[in-house]
Amino acid sequence: MADFLAAYSVQNWLESCPQGYLEDTEYGHGIGEKEPDVVLENPALREQAIRSTVQLVMGERCALAASSGLINLAPDQASKRFLATQTLDEARHVEIFTHRLYDLGVKKSELESTIERYANPNLVKFAELLLEKVDKKDFVAGVVGQNVILEGMAFHVFEMMQAASEKTNPKFAHTLSGTIADERRHVGFGENRIGSLIRENPERKPDIERLQKEMSYYMLATFGEAFRQGPSPEEVDQILAKEGVKREKEGEWQGVKLGHASPEELESVLGDTILKEFKLRLDRIGIEYQTPVQP
Ligand SMILES: [Fe+2]
Ligand SMILES: [Fe+2]
Repeated sequence: MADFLAAYSVQNWLESCPQGYLEDTEYGHGIGEKEPDVVLENPALREQAIRSTVQLVMGERCALAASSGLINLAPDQASKRFLATQTLDEARHVEIFTHRLYDLGVKKSELESTIERYANPNLVKFAELLLEKVDKKDFVAGVVGQNVILEGMAFHVFEMMQAASEKTNPKFAHTLSGTIADERRHVGFGENRIGSLIRENPERKPDIERLQKEMSYYMLATFGEAFRQGPSPEEVDQILAKEGVKREKEGEWQGVKLGHASPEELESVLGDTILKEFKLRLDRIGIEYQTPVQP
């Protein structure tokens, strides 16, 4: 418990996050960093960037609503304080990704209509399910939904996006690296806190397993669809060649060259990693993974 208190304290958060890796950043990236010209000038690349950023804003808005709601449901004081720091992290994530939409040329007056237009329906469904648990004051289901499923899966997507943009878009890669560091903390909390709660309340196991099955489907469906939308790697190459931009060294993640991977390859590498890690994480909290089915 002493370790738990120190690792998830407000003091630790202050030292590692605002006074640590976020020092000297603005909206999550280096001061003065800009989106690459080719992204701003090419309509297909710009739309793709807007569409994927909308999913990030959606996911983060969901995490902000859930983490703030969970503060008052938490059974102990240390968890309440941690969730207060997480709430501020999530508010920051909403803000930095919203800001990226503005940087990509979305007008402030068009923010909500842009989000509505591009939001993935599976992600919307996931958010509804999670917030329903929080509304019903179910702390265990809320933490599993948010800190284990949403964040446990999104974590790897952030890592993949970060690897893919490291060379081509340092501004976005830097925005993502601070987010990844935050998410690592959130996932760690979920695993630590929920493991003990499930051991104390073994009667919750069956319905938590059912919840995992249902929620994982919406997350995997969101990722799968995201990869099938927008220009293919070959089309991106053509666009870059036409704009006279040479593709620098390509980003690589889990052995896959991201710029040239097919959507199926991306989906399968992501599915393998996400599911592999995810199953281990569930195992550590005493939950057996259930393969999702299409609802
Ligand atoms: Fe977040
Ligand atoms: Fe988070």
